[in-house]
Amino acid sequence: MDRYLIAPSILAADFSCLGAEVESVLSAGADVIHFDVMDNHYVPNLSMGPMVCEALRKSGVTAPIDVHLMVRPVDEMIRMFADVGATYISFHPDASDHVDRSLELINELGCKGGLVFNPGSSAEILNWLLDRLDIIVLMSVNPGFSGQKFITEILKKISFVRDLIDSSRRDILLEVDGGIGVENIADVAAAGADMFVAGSAIFGSKDYSKVISQMRAKLEGAARPV
Ligand code: DX5
Ligand code: ZN
Repeated sequence: MDRYLIAPSILAADFSCLGAEVESVLSAGADVIHFDVMDNHYVPNLSMGPMVCEALRKSGVTAPIDVHLMVRPVDEMIRMFADVGATYISFHPDASDHVDRSLELINELGCKGGLVFNPGSSAEILNWLLDRLDIIVLMSVNPGFSGQKFITEILKKISFVRDLIDSSRRDILLEVDGGIGVENIADVAAAGADMFVAGSAIFGSKDYSKVISQMRAKLEGAARPV
C-alpha cells in the first residue's frame, strides 16, 4: 500500500446539507467517502439507501464511495448500489446465505468487493475467500452507530488479518471502522491497517482540514511492521 487512506463516515455528517458536507470533507483531504447503510434488521438503526448514493454521484462526486452494507439479505442492495456508482461494496458474512456468491455478484457488477467482520466475529472464513476480495473491513465498534469507543482488543485482529493478507501476496486493502480519531490512528496503522474510517472524529469537529492533517501527521509517524 503506497498511501494510507482516510475515509470519513458520512453517518456523522449533517444530513440537512449532505452534498456540501461531502464536498467539504473531500476538499479537506479525505480520500474515500464511507457510506453506512443500515436496515433496522441487521442493526438497530436506519440510515441511507441507494438514492442518496445516486444523488451524490449526480451532484458530481467522483471520489471513491465505500458502501458498508449493514443489511440482511445483501444481494438486492449490492445490485442497487452497483447501479448508482458505488466503488467498494462490503457486507457482513452472516448477512448473506451464500457469501461466495454475493462476492461474485459484486465482482461481476464491476465493483470492488469486501467482507466486514464484527468485533466478536471470527475472521477465519477469510482463508477460503481471499481470492474474491479487494478489501477486508474490521469493525472496531459494534455496528449501528457513530460515536462509540474503539475496542482495543481489535488491534490483535488487525495484525492477524494483516499477516494473512501479506502472506497471500494479494492486493487487498485492510480497512478499520469505528472509534478512530487523532489519538489512536497511529496504533491502528501500526497494527497493519491501510484505510481508516472516522465519523464523529471528523464531522464532530469544526475544522475538517485540521483533523485530517493531524491524522496524516500521526500516520507519518506510525511504525508499520514490515
Ligand atoms: C458503525 C459504522 C461506522 C461509524 C463510524 O456502524 O459502520 O462507519 O459511522 O463512526 P465513528 O468514527 O464515529 O465511530
Ligand atoms: Zn461503516
